[in-house]
Amino acid sequence: MNEILERLAAHRLVPVVVIDDASHADALAQALVDGGLPVAEVTFRTAAAADAIRAIAARGDVLVGAGTVLTPKQVDDAVAAGASYVVSPGTSRAVVERCQEHGILALPGAVTATEVQAALELGLTTVKFFPAGTSGGAKAVAALAAPFGDVGFVPTGGIGPGNLAEYLALPSVRAVGGSWMVPRDLIRGGDLDAVRDLTAEAVSLVAHP
Ligand code: 3PG
Repeated sequence: MNEILERLAAHRLVPVVVIDDASHADALAQALVDGGLPVAEVTFRTAAAADAIRAIAARGDVLVGAGTVLTPKQVDDAVAAGASYVVSPGTSRAVVERCQEHGILALPGAVTATEVQAALELGLTTVKFFPAGTSGGAKAVAALAAPFGDVGFVPTGGIGPGNLAEYLALPSVRAVGGSWMVPRDLIRGGDLDAVRDLTAEAVSLVAHP
């Protein structure tokens, strides 16, 4: 397994971050570290994403990736900022190939057998199952995994404390992603103690499902 993927799989959780102001990035990273989950997927849904990734990557203690990456240019920006992996909502050949040129792990979205096969043809072995909740949930992941042997899934979308164990119980699931431990309004409001506590709760649920 790819080394970055191994590290994500060891943590089992990927906080999906939407950050409005990069000056909050360091405090956010500290809250994740203090909560016991030094991982962040910072989404390119805001103009602050690249600067936030740069600030978090510079610390050296958080496995930071870029999320919602839709174009090869955003792959370049993510790599330049220091991202260790690139997540996309769907599978784009152009995005995946740019990741491969950079030698960076790509985790594109796939929720159908056709999409998984497309990812396999691009040389990938792990995909994001997104949006998980509305695509059939854990049962759909299990059914989709059946014909694909060693393919790994990172379900994301509609996952929270109440259902994360259903996904993590599946052998094909490497980790789950979600925004519930890093609510955008808490980051914007500077309530990083709450982020730390939500993160610690999520980590404890993974340890003791
Ligand atoms: C993502 O981009 O992965 C999702 O927006 C996260 O989904 P959630 O907000 O339902 O956790």
